[in-house]
Amino acid sequence: MSETIVAFHEGLLPAAAELLARRHRRDRAAMPLLPARFAEARPALVAAREVWHKPLTSGVAALRDGRLIGYLLGEVKIDSLRGRHVWVHLAGHALAEDAPPDLYAALYAAAGPEWLAEGAFDHYVMMPAADAAGLDVWYGLNFGREQAHAARASAGPLPDPVDISGVTIRRATEADRDAMVDEMSPILRQHLVAPPVWAAALPETMRPMREGFVEMLSDDSARVWLAVADGPEGGRVLGYQAYFPATPTDDNLMVSISDRTVLLEVAATRADARGRGIGRALTRVGLADAAAAGYGLCITDWRTANVEAARFWPRMGFRPVAYRLTRKVDPRVAWAI
Ligand SMILES: CC(C)(COP(=O)(O)OP(=O)(O)OC[C@H]1O[C@@H](n2cnc3c(N)ncnc32)[C@H](O)[C@@H]1OP(=O)(O)O)[C@@H](O)C(=O)NCCC(=O)NCCS
Repeated sequence: MSETIVAFHEGLLPAAAELLARRHRRDRAAMPLLPARFAEARPALVAAREVWHKPLTSGVAALRDGRLIGYLLGEVKIDSLRGRHVWVHLAGHALAEDAPPDLYAALYAAAGPEWLAEGAFDHYVMMPAADAAGLDVWYGLNFGREQAHAARASAGPLPDPVDISGVTIRRATEADRDAMVDEMSPILRQHLVAPPVWAAALPETMRPMREGFVEMLSDDSARVWLAVADGPEGGRVLGYQAYFPATPTDDNLMVSISDRTVLLEVAATRADARGRGIGRALTRVGLADAAAAGYGLCITDWRTANVEAARFWPRMGFRPVAYRLTRKVDPRVAWAI
């Protein structure tokens, strides 16, 4: 049986949505925390259409005997952090059950030239974490994991309790502004620029980041938890976690509406206070509070090269539901033939 690869067009959206809904059903069978709604044709169509209509999006479809068996859409984006790059959203691809996983390679080879012609040599692909065969194909295409997106139920089982005597966990208030901005906001950035993560923190992001730390203290929807030292170093903030309501969007396959979703967006413990259970204690309190506030689902994400985070969050019960993969194509292919 042979496949024909054609340029993607609007008329293929209903069939693409059907593939997406079926893929999401398979993903949910392995990862039940994924939202249910995208397993239905209509929300899947809205999601696929949303991705297709993003600016600078192009892609291809594979047909077998006139039937759609796979599609791959990429959005070319331009920003100061990633430069010119292409982004394949979670709703921007799917294969039929009876399509071989290496169809991804044929789709990528067919879609890629247009992305390179746009100057997008850095490629990002969001893949369901449970699709081992599909992931393997992308690894063979020189992609590597960069970010893990994970979920867990907010309610129990909570992480085991831990003795952190001498430390109090409490909600942050506006009185914590200086400690949050001056002492807490740099911790994550300094950790991520260091080896082996080496994630660039550009100067232009500093001010918005500091402002974000101020705003979260006055944001009624944010739930910010601090670990604060008692005793001789009384009042010293040792760590924090910040939870925000996750905004459900039409093409975010990880955010549930029916099961209200909270995003654990930022968290860090001072380097000299790590390994004492502060992160665990904050997670226990933060999750229990989110559950009491009616959030059934908690999502978070981390750089896979952040070894502390990659070890810590799974121990807190988070399970990866998707990975962001990345590949840098050698730009000299544009002239070296
Ligand atoms: C990830 C991070 C928040 C964890 O915070 P923490 O306060 O060190 O967390 P804990 O102390 O609860 O757990 C960390 C480790 O200490 C161990 N630990 C916990 N309590 C302990 C104790 N009483 N004695 C000895 N070890 C202990 C835990 O077992 C855990 O080890 P493990 O990962 O091998 O299981 C912290 O490493 C950090 O701030 N990293 C930099 C910023 C960052 O990466 N933030 C997350 C971004 S996604």
